[in-house]
Amino acid sequence: MTRFNNILETIGNTPMVDISQLSPNPDVKMFAKLEGQNPGGSSKDRIALKMVELAERDGAIAPGDTILEPSSGNTGIGLALVAKLKGYNLRIILPENVSPERRQLLEIFGAEVTLSPAEEGSNGAIRMAEKISADEPSYRFLFQYGNPANPLAHYEGTGPEILRDCPEIDVFCAGLGTSGTLMGVGRYLKEHKPDVKIVAVEPPAGELVQGLRNLDDGFIPPIFSGDVLDGKTIARPRESIEGTRRLLNECGIFAGVSSGAAVYGANRYISRAMSEGTVVVLLPDGGWKYLSSGAWTDDLDTVVDRANRINYW
Ligand SMILES: Cc1ncc(COP(=O)(O)O)c(C=O)c1O
Repeated sequence: MTRFNNILETIGNTPMVDISQLSPNPDVKMFAKLEGQNPGGSSKDRIALKMVELAERDGAIAPGDTILEPSSGNTGIGLALVAKLKGYNLRIILPENVSPERRQLLEIFGAEVTLSPAEEGSNGAIRMAEKISADEPSYRFLFQYGNPANPLAHYEGTGPEILRDCPEIDVFCAGLGTSGTLMGVGRYLKEHKPDVKIVAVEPPAGELVQGLRNLDDGFIPPIFSGDVLDGKTIARPRESIEGTRRLLNECGIFAGVSSGAAVYGANRYISRAMSEGTVVVLLPDGGWKYLSSGAWTDDLDTVVDRANRINYW
């Protein structure tokens, strides 16, 4: 379908593209699911809509309410889009060192932005949002890290789309942030094709890759369940930027840095564990919000160093 009643109906049904030129093994095919094609620019549009729809269904929110959410960017932008169309106010808690594009996007969509301390990262934003919602119960706190609507959006949407477009899939590989993508897609695929392996990509503990977390860094999202995963691989910030550059230079795909991490992690998994087969890698967003990081243009060491100071991801 190409004609819609409103922009929210365009969420999902993102394209899948062959990127086998990036595979380290000619007998292993790779496909990328381009979540940056969602209207708010990321996979988080799916969960923003689902969290609001289910809260409305349960009578937990109604137009005119103010939604509160800690987000380093994409979920905030998705919620801002949904809030605008459905008549909600939105307050986002954002670490103070995020890149300027993030803040600008939230503000032009009409969200109120409150900054949390840079040195506390996304865990600090989560703690601040929890405190505000405990002190002021009139806020509607959707909390993507603990909200079953997050994995459900991927169970009902992303997972079926992947199996429809790539029935030969053997391995699904994605970065781990809230874990909603891996939990939802993973459960759907395991129910419908039990041999599919689900592989998470994490940064090493203490290192930042946009939107991703290492579960050893002190916070395990309540929606996470270890039984869905078959394996984990690591992608360092530098490797993630290299992966992002390869996506652009070899495939013409302009994606965010966690997409590069997912590709790098998938390659590591293919080299270690596969002699043939098909891997689907989820690319959560486009590259637009990361232009000021210099990820495509500057010397790699300079970009990595800059990313340690400014939260681009
Ligand atoms: C850019 C980006 N990549 C990857 C992820 C990870 O996705 P998930 O939260 O579904 O684990 C996020 C999540 O915050 C993100 O913002």
